[in-house]
Amino acid sequence: MSNSNSTWMPAASRKHCMTNPAGKSTDSKDSIILRTPTASDGAALWQLVKATGELEPNTAYCYLLLATDFADTCLVAEAAGQIVGAVIGYRPPREPDAAFVWQVGVLPDYRGLGLGLRMLTAWRDLPANRNCRWVTATVADDNPASQSLFQRLAHSAGVECTVNPHFTADLFPVAHPAEPLHRIGPFSL
Ligand SMILES: CC(C)(COP(=O)(O)OP(=O)(O)OC[C@H]1O[C@@H](n2cnc3c(N)ncnc32)[C@H](O)[C@@H]1OP(=O)(O)O)[C@@H](O)C(=O)NCCC(=O)NCCS
Repeated sequence: MSNSNSTWMPAASRKHCMTNPAGKSTDSKDSIILRTPTASDGAALWQLVKATGELEPNTAYCYLLLATDFADTCLVAEAAGQIVGAVIGYRPPREPDAAFVWQVGVLPDYRGLGLGLRMLTAWRDLPANRNCRWVTATVADDNPASQSLFQRLAHSAGVECTVNPHFTADLFPVAHPAEPLHRIGPFSL
């Protein structure tokens, strides 16, 4: 799957790769770079997750691990030097033809502009994810924005999005909505 509006580059090459949201005027806010993260993005990922107001924050150390050992399956959106969105994912060892989205978030000021879909599309197109036939994610029952985002990803690729029980509420040690598994695909390789 490719997206002419989204370009990912390894962090080392990012200064040569700028993208602008389609139909938006060009200023620093709209020049968004999509790239894989490095260790120096770990702290910003932690801050971003907290700033979304909806995502469950993990430790700062966890985001350092994700930005290093799992960097090939993560994507950040950078505008004027600020991380304004991210897709944090990995390849599930027990399901080699899938790529799992653990967390996806966009800062409130950048929502509703198509950035979430652009990021997911570019994330699916990363070299480390390109051979996956399925994108999977758990989405809390009380998160319509995220549900719409994954349905939209399926629709834009012309594939199905099925939803089945996965992490039910009783599995959590504290009050927590159920997290059904969304399975999007099959993507053609
Ligand atoms: C979910 C989130 C990443 C979407 O980012 P975004 O950049 O606003 O999404 P997009 O603009 O690309 O929209 C993608 C689709 O989702 C829909 N959508 C976005 N926000 C929505 C909302 N609040 N309610 C219903 N649908 C919504 C859009 O309408 C769009 O579909 P369309 O093209 O058919 O209109 C963003 O709302 C967010 O960061 N939320 C907080 C964190 C979170 O809940 N993450 C998901 C759990 S892992």
